[in-house]
Amino acid sequence: MKVEDQALTLCFPTPIWRLDFSDYQSVNTAIRDELEALGWDKLGERQRAIIHPSHTFSEDSFVTVDEVPSIQVVLEFFVSACNAIARERNWDTRETQVTLQNYWVHATPPGELTQYHDHKPGLLSGVYYVDKPENSGDLIFIDVNPYQAYGPRLLPGETDPITRPEITFKADEGTMLIFPAWLPHKVPRNSSDRRRISISFNAI
Ligand SMILES: [Fe+2]
Repeated sequence: MKVEDQALTLCFPTPIWRLDFSDYQSVNTAIRDELEALGWDKLGERQRAIIHPSHTFSEDSFVTVDEVPSIQVVLEFFVSACNAIARERNWDTRETQVTLQNYWVHATPPGELTQYHDHKPGLLSGVYYVDKPENSGDLIFIDVNPYQAYGPRLLPGETDPITRPEITFKADEGTMLIFPAWLPHKVPRNSSDRRRISISFNAI
């Protein structure tokens, strides 16, 4: 038989947007200084909220823009990026806009990790890296295809985006990742000797 034409259609691809900023250093320094002024010990004791029962929140600190004014520019960029995504993808936003749902800070000391969780019921979620020491833990996205849970691993599952069960994103300081809020993720143990600082946020 002779193939006249052929095609591959990815029916339900999962988008992950990455933005790398060139002018991040002054913003990150200001955020770091404002968090430092709040006190790292006090950050760990702050009120914790529950978005998803499986989320440990052991490392989440809920701050406000009044306390850490320099995160405002990051939050505003995230919301504008989400609205740009909605326009580019032709999502129906005629009667509403994508807005900020919530935000929080991670100040993850050496030895800590973040377990499997998602950010439902948001629309888009994001993270921005302020301090990202080498080996302090990269974001790992996990496939929710139920076949991954009980089927044999399809080779080459580790390299093929269609069959691999999880993907690690090696982001840097000054990087923002935006992903669907339903997409489960985790972060392995911080194996560095420094704190990893990032800001997480949801849009709805
Ligand atoms: Fe998360």
